[in-house]
Amino acid sequence: MSDFDGKIALVTGTSGIGLGAAIRFARGGARVFCAGIDPALNEQAETDCAGLDVTVSRVDVSSEDDVARWVGEVTSAQNGVDILVNAAAVQTYGDTASTDIGHWNRVIGVNLTSCYLTSHFAYPHMKRRGGGSIVHVSSVQGHQNQNGVLAYATTKGGIHALTRAQAVDAARDNIRVNSISPGSIRTPLLEFAARQVAGEDGSIEDTIKSFGAAHPIGRVGTIEETSALIAFLCSDAAAFCTGADYKIDGGLTAGLGV
Ligand SMILES: NC(=O)c1ccc[n+]([C@@H]2O[C@H](COP(=O)([O-])OP(=O)(O)OC[C@H]3O[C@@H](n4cnc5c(N)ncnc54)[C@H](O)[C@@H]3O)[C@@H](O)[C@H]2O)c1
Repeated sequence: MSDFDGKIALVTGTSGIGLGAAIRFARGGARVFCAGIDPALNEQAETDCAGLDVTVSRVDVSSEDDVARWVGEVTSAQNGVDILVNAAAVQTYGDTASTDIGHWNRVIGVNLTSCYLTSHFAYPHMKRRGGGSIVHVSSVQGHQNQNGVLAYATTKGGIHALTRAQAVDAARDNIRVNSISPGSIRTPLLEFAARQVAGEDGSIEDTIKSFGAAHPIGRVGTIEETSALIAFLCSDAAAFCTGADYKIDGGLTAGLGV
């Protein structure tokens, strides 16, 4: 595959869906720059990307200074940015009563403000390149909800509004902006969620199977399936796609669940 030859891609998140997208772009010939906060995950990502043109940096995507520095370092060495994928996030639990302001601000910062910050700093470099593609990773929780995901769901719904607003403005600069809404995809985040549901004595594998059974397709999705959608949205084949959210959820939100 050389569908991303010569492209410069910025990706946030150094595990799971972000790492999968980074590997997909790099295998397609792109030069990829990944941002993640967790040193152990960053190190593992470097190992997983051995032999590929992927540079991993320690960045807190909720910090304006960190994002400005990261994008500045990349763009001072590269002639612009073609692709931006925002996959960094935290998934936390809490309802209106139990979510305190610290929890709320942290989740909004990491999951939503980060999408604005990376776009804000990357935008001029995409524009001078003659255009580009931005993909924000939302969630089915931006459409429908389980209990106790107040702050997380708010960020995912916010991504849909951000995507529309950005897309309308950015079309004049040939920059497309879309989001994707995954159902359950097997990643470290899903395994974390499964661990919460399974409890200390429960089986994570059984819990992940039960997550899969809730999807009409009967299983959870894979990182490769998700990367394929992100790659499509960032390719020229998606030249008429902008301002939209694309579900990749095995039919989860199509059904009534009864
Ligand atoms: N896996 C699923 O089932 C699923 C479902 C719906 C949506 N999503 C979304 O997909 C995206 C990717 O999640 P994933 O499943 O790959 O999980 P993941 O936990 O593997 O990836 C999240 C990444 O974000 C990074 N991160 C967290 N806080 C950060 C910060 N402040 N600065 C920089 N990096 C930070 C983590 O270190 C991690 O690498 C997220 O937006 C998540 O909400 C995942």
